[in-house]
Amino acid sequence: MVQILDGKAMALQIKDEIANEVRSLTQAGHRAPHLAAVIVGEDGASKTYVANKEKSSREVGFTSSVYRMPESTTEAQLLETIAFLNNDPDIDGYIVQLPLPKHINEQTIINSISPDKDVDGFTPINIGRMVLGEDCFVPATPMGICTLLKRYGIETAGKHCVVLGRSNIVGTPAANLLSRKGFDCTVTICHSKTQNLKEMCRQADILVVAIGKPEFVTADIVKPGAVVIDVGIHRVEDASKKNGYRVIGDVKHDEVDAQCSWVTPVPGGVGPLTIVSLLENTLKAYRKHESR
Ligand code: GUN
Repeated sequence: MVQILDGKAMALQIKDEIANEVRSLTQAGHRAPHLAAVIVGEDGASKTYVANKEKSSREVGFTSSVYRMPESTTEAQLLETIAFLNNDPDIDGYIVQLPLPKHINEQTIINSISPDKDVDGFTPINIGRMVLGEDCFVPATPMGICTLLKRYGIETAGKHCVVLGRSNIVGTPAANLLSRKGFDCTVTICHSKTQNLKEMCRQADILVVAIGKPEFVTADIVKPGAVVIDVGIHRVEDASKKNGYRVIGDVKHDEVDAQCSWVTPVPGGVGPLTIVSLLENTLKAYRKHESR
């Protein structure tokens, strides 16, 4: 029988834990943690993500601010905003929502974020620390995956984990974290040039799918009893829905779920944990900031 890794319920529980901690802090006379976000341009999905992050921040009692900049913003102007955020003692952590407009070099921007405020864990310093197993900010989506596996008590040691996708934000850090002490998986990373990708997937005890292709993973490539983590988020038109669309993942759930031991639904699986991980990183940044 398949069991659901209920990210929505877990996110509510962790948000409650964070809210309680923030309440104790503010009742003791301390300021609330402050998470800021920068968004450049009008990308619809990015606007939704930032709105959700802002809403969740406020729900747990954080101070939240959003810097909205037009599509025409130059790299120099964005760097000025980042310098301001780096130096503002009231801000504990911030994110620069990706993707950025084509005329702005994403890596230049990421490199300019202060590692102490990099709650997305995207800067080379934090990635380096993560790979070395040092204390750091871990990128939110892989951190959410780890939280789900840990809190549900999924056995990972010695298991073969296949990660589909090698992005800097999800696939690469997820593969790194799951191979390290604590998770102890044997990890294979698959990508667009992988030969025998289907055979690789069929060997996975734990399959992490972050390939960005709607319903790419079908039942024939999933080992019976596998744990399947679906990171995909795609909107598809659906006239029967009030808003005109529904959200699907990288996994064809109607045929895959029945043969899994555990599976993350879409929506309500990894997504809610991603936002919660960002809140956890912000609380961590706050504690470090306050103890300086
Ligand atoms: N774009 C897609 N996912 C993310 C994320 O986790 N952080 C930021 N900053 N941008 C994103």
